[in-house]
Amino acid sequence: MIELAPSILSADFAHLADDIHLATEGGASLLHLDVMDGHFVPNLTIGPPVVASVRKITELPLDCHLMIEDPDFYIPAFVDAGADWISVHQEVCWHLNRTLESIRSRGAQAGVVINPATPVEMLSEVLDIADYVLVMSVNPGFGGQKFIPGALGKIAKLASIRASRALNFRIEVDGGVDLETVGDVVRAGAEILVAGSAVFSKRDPKGDAQKLLKAAHEASWQKV
Ligand code: DX5
Ligand code: ZN
Repeated sequence: MIELAPSILSADFAHLADDIHLATEGGASLLHLDVMDGHFVPNLTIGPPVVASVRKITELPLDCHLMIEDPDFYIPAFVDAGADWISVHQEVCWHLNRTLESIRSRGAQAGVVINPATPVEMLSEVLDIADYVLVMSVNPGFGGQKFIPGALGKIAKLASIRASRALNFRIEVDGGVDLETVGDVVRAGAEILVAGSAVFSKRDPKGDAQKLLKAAHEASWQKV
């Protein structure tokens, strides 16, 4: 099933609830929250208080993408704030198995993220305990960057590994997903589409979410 997860990074933070409601009317079924610490990535964004505020104004599951150096320390705070899905970067987890199990043990969906420079092979031993894998199609840190095509091969490889090993993780893609690239990512096998600027930057979150989902569904029909 294709799902659109708008990233609020490109939303109007002064009118965040309005933007979220409009994107939801446009078909969003998950909300992507980008957490950045200024260390792992060169930008600072939001933390648990904002997640808790967003939790109060939407029923959509909250997908928290942790771009931070010490995710283990902060996972409980994000779960308490209302995160339903939590993803951590493979690149910062010394004990990735333990970290994913700790997210799951708190009742959240556990995701693992790989940067453009990280090969899919780095995940082979955790694919059975990940609820989802997030393939970065830009270098994390900022919205509005150009899609890196190498992500397509990684998405396809994950889909093929999942089939051959009869696993269940879902495949998410993040970065530069717009009307131009969405068809390719869906045909490669991505199911959860994160989009920030493509949904929010033209100030029509409802219309732009609808357009993106329509294009994604058309591509998924071409796939079969
Ligand atoms: C980038 C973030 C993304 C970002 C995507 O580090 O993880 O979620 O908001 O923005 P767009 O869709 O504009 O590339
Ligand atoms: Zn993200």
